[in-house]
Amino acid sequence: MQIFIDSADLAEIKEAVAIGVVDGCTTNPSLLAKVGRKLEALIPEICEVVNGPVSAEVVATDCDGILKEGRALAKLHKNVVVKVPLIVEGLKAVRVFSKEGIKTNVTLCFSPTQAMLAAKAGATYISPFVGRLDDLAQDGMELIQQIVTIYDNYDYDTQVLVASVRNPVHVTNAALIGAHCATIPFSVIKQLASHPLTDSGLAKFLADAKKNAGAV
Ligand code: E4P
Repeated sequence: MQIFIDSADLAEIKEAVAIGVVDGCTTNPSLLAKVGRKLEALIPEICEVVNGPVSAEVVATDCDGILKEGRALAKLHKNVVVKVPLIVEGLKAVRVFSKEGIKTNVTLCFSPTQAMLAAKAGATYISPFVGRLDDLAQDGMELIQQIVTIYDNYDYDTQVLVASVRNPVHVTNAALIGAHCATIPFSVIKQLASHPLTDSGLAKFLADAKKNAGAV
């Protein structure tokens, strides 16, 4: 499964990329606001660091506006993926982008039928938000299973990019279901690599190695 970092924080993106497990990056207007950066300025900087797809989200909500913004974003770097909201105007724009060879990530997906329409429009990625569904006492991973099944049934090319990931269990389940990718906050990427038994086991090994330092 491909791992994307869900962040607009260049320092943490660099740290995550240095681990060697990051295949791409996703941003959104809220993540940009958190770091106080402008999309057009930040995206080329992220593209210098991340060797893979980098999602940049439009803020227009009408088809013409989405097309204008998306075309400008796509010109920033060859790895830019234009992130489009899953609304009717967004679907119209995705179809045009698809014909123009501009990659898209259709975001804010919360139902299997939304995902089906995004695939029919020619989306490169669909982003179902599992954490936000879980927050409403719905089952985010059930949505992933439904989308993967529908896409398999009809051989849709759109890749399932699990989003709004909150914990390592989301990542494990996304991989078990066979989602193509997950976009994960840096805090959760670090959790993926850690286990308390690894830490206590390592501490014991290091202590024993020290005790045995004088051995022949
Ligand atoms: C992904 O593309 C979204 O930007 C992100 O995963 C949303 O996550 P949140 O629900 O934690 O804000």
